[in-house]
Amino acid sequence: MDHLSLCPLVVLLLCLVILALSKIFKTVIQDQEKSTADIPPGSHGFPVVGETLQFMLSVNSGKGFYEFVRRRRIRYGSCFRTSLFGETHVFLSTTESARAVLNNESGMFTKRYIKSIAALVGDRSLLCASQHHHKILRSRFINLFSKKSTALMVRHFDELVVDALSGWEHHGTVVLLTDLLQITFKAMCKMLISLENEEELGSLQRDVGFVCEAMLAFPLNLPWTRFHKGIMARGRVMEVLEKIIRERRNETNSHNNNYREDFRQQLLAVDSDGSASSSDHSTKLTDAEIKDNILTMIIAGQDTTASALTWMVKYLGENQKVLNILIEEQTQLAKQASHKPFLELDDLTEMTYASKMVKESLRMASVVPWFPRLVLQDCEMEGYKINKGWNINIDARSIHLDPNVYSEPHKFNPSRFDEEAKANSFLAFGMGGRTCLGLNMAKAMMVVFLHRFITTYRWEVVDGDPSIEKWTLFARLKSGYPIRVSRRL
Ligand code: HEM
Repeated sequence: MDHLSLCPLVVLLLCLVILALSKIFKTVIQDQEKSTADIPPGSHGFPVVGETLQFMLSVNSGKGFYEFVRRRRIRYGSCFRTSLFGETHVFLSTTESARAVLNNESGMFTKRYIKSIAALVGDRSLLCASQHHHKILRSRFINLFSKKSTALMVRHFDELVVDALSGWEHHGTVVLLTDLLQITFKAMCKMLISLENEEELGSLQRDVGFVCEAMLAFPLNLPWTRFHKGIMARGRVMEVLEKIIRERRNETNSHNNNYREDFRQQLLAVDSDGSASSSDHSTKLTDAEIKDNILTMIIAGQDTTASALTWMVKYLGENQKVLNILIEEQTQLAKQASHKPFLELDDLTEMTYASKMVKESLRMASVVPWFPRLVLQDCEMEGYKINKGWNINIDARSIHLDPNVYSEPHKFNPSRFDEEAKANSFLAFGMGGRTCLGLNMAKAMMVVFLHRFITTYRWEVVDGDPSIEKWTLFARLKSGYPIRVSRRL
């Protein structure tokens, strides 16, 4: 055959190859976009990596990692699937699904975070422990979050806030998030381990920061990776906590009367007085459990509360009407409480509008945007088949912003909570057996800050850029929300 007669054959062959390739490409990339009869709609993305790349792009964008979920929620509806870090994830965003999965009466779901998080907070952490282990841990920790602890926290937190706010008017620009992270970190360390030394607090906060930054990183433990930096920082935090536990044990054993009412004391009390540990082995915590969970509680309490407070100030600044009502309530209460140096828990019960303001801020910000669980048995959700071994995520943020659940969901309106919210619709602190242990404490801290901030200062925003910070587990403003304050006369 001559070259010319070969030509149509080559063209035909080329066409066939292109057709076959485009078919394969379509199958791999897009076949999953339309739901087959019973599998949730969505895309599995590329082989092996799935949609991890797109997720990482979202994390890296100014819109934050929730953008990845938001786009797919709009495209596929209230139930969709994707593939991240080699595993299938399903996202659900109805109140019925939230009730079924988070209350978990069927026992078909358990909590599981992505691998990088378990390696960073420790597999004995409340966040990552198996269902059975979690029950034991939670029963021990829940006692620590008593009304007495909340009252103590209110007193300590108010003192910290008053101290921190005292010089703000001379600071020029205050980067709100940075200062709030420092205040909430101090509050957590005081409550958990009575750590107050500024230098030690500074280096511990830096290391906890590295741990947090690594939480969304690809779990690749090589010297130059963000994940590695986080793992190394975890090691240093563990050493500090080990030293603190050892010192406290020595103090207790030598009957040093230096008793402190922190969580560490209560956790160690079980094995140091001998009686509890010998009579009830199931409640005795190992040092590893104590250390993992102190780190967990610092992270769970610091970053969430500081981020929520920053969002709250932002919403408040954007809603003058709400601000006016709040100022009226708070200045009145400030006069009543002027005879005492610090607020008490009972004072907060009178701050009804401030409490609704806190709730509305938590709804709008959805600081923890979704709750991950692992599916233990094949089941059906929202008419779709869900396989054992898949990850299922309750998308709280979509529920908080669903117009069928909250009317005018994008309007900041604390008075919407004059009435009880619809069942299973307020998920800022989760629901069921994994509900946030610190929820009362967190709400109290937010009200305390609100009271002091509102009654002390007026403020103007220096940079209102709404971009979201990269590499953070909880949605935080990238700018840190810089403000300039002046004394309210
Ligand atoms: C505004 C601040 C806070 C928010 C929005 C928040 C939110 C949450 C949410 C949504 C969960 C449950 C996640 C799930 O079900 O998967 C959770 C769990 C948890 N939170 Fe908070 N939290 C806040 C403050 C605190 C504070 C101050 C503490 C105190 C140390 C704390 C300690 C914990 C702990 C220990 C868990 C794990 C509970 C368990 O798994 O049994 N949180 N938090």
